Amino acid sequence: MRQYIIGNWKMNGTKAEAQKLATTFVKRVTEASRPLPHIVLCPSYPYLTTVAEILKESSLEVGAQDCHPEHRGAFTGDVSAFQLKDVGCSYVIVGHSERRHLHHESNGLIRRKLEAAIKVELRPILCLGESAEEREQGKTFQAISNQLTSDLPLEFTPQDLIIAYEPLWAIGTGITPAPGEVEDIMGFIKHELSVRVTGGALVPILYGGSVTSLNAPTLLNLPHLDGLLVGGASLKLDEFWEIISASSR
Ligand code: PGA
Repeated sequence: MRQYIIGNWKMNGTKAEAQKLATTFVKRVTEASRPLPHIVLCPSYPYLTTVAEILKESSLEVGAQDCHPEHRGAFTGDVSAFQLKDVGCSYVIVGHSERRHLHHESNGLIRRKLEAAIKVELRPILCLGESAEEREQGKTFQAISNQLTSDLPLEFTPQDLIIAYEPLWAIGTGITPAPGEVEDIMGFIKHELSVRVTGGALVPILYGGSVTSLNAPTLLNLPHLDGLLVGGASLKLDEFWEIISASSR
């Protein structure tokens, strides 16, 4: 499977910085002499249209960082999946741990967001992963299985979504699980998905949490890993390009 490298810019940057990153990546992708992975940039809401406009004629795609489950209505401050699709997004991150915890998003809400995105053909990237406590108590696999059960829509096809395994203790900490651990969990998620949906092993599974140009080559070589969701390092032009370049499939 062709890998995915997704940059989650979170609430960072200015319009000028977003323009510079997007323009430079388009230039580098256009000049690249070898096949590249799928590349998705996820700026914050105010810069979506600017970035979408720059990426329009390229193979790079735009994603948003969250969506509201309703199509439209009196939801001050929210943005619907339909609106994101309307301004050129192809993907949306759903259930990121910063939203689950800082915005107290429930599993039920996350499932509705996934359903709303899939309905308008906006491909959701569902984030899940265990907390430090769950890991210490040996409950990693149970935690992931529970999240899959509570978050996944009742009906979906493997092409509808992407899953990003992001252990909470690895996000923004500089600590990553051992490659063997990531591989085991990727394999576990693929197995769980194949039990839940026909062709479930075809859902791309990414790793996220403190990815850098140093650990990306090892991670991207793991057989079960279909790509990376990159936070902090995706805002650094050369660093992110090195991560992209480390993908061999
Ligand atoms: P990080 O963030 O790469 O900065 O750890 C990853 C994420 O939150 O998606």
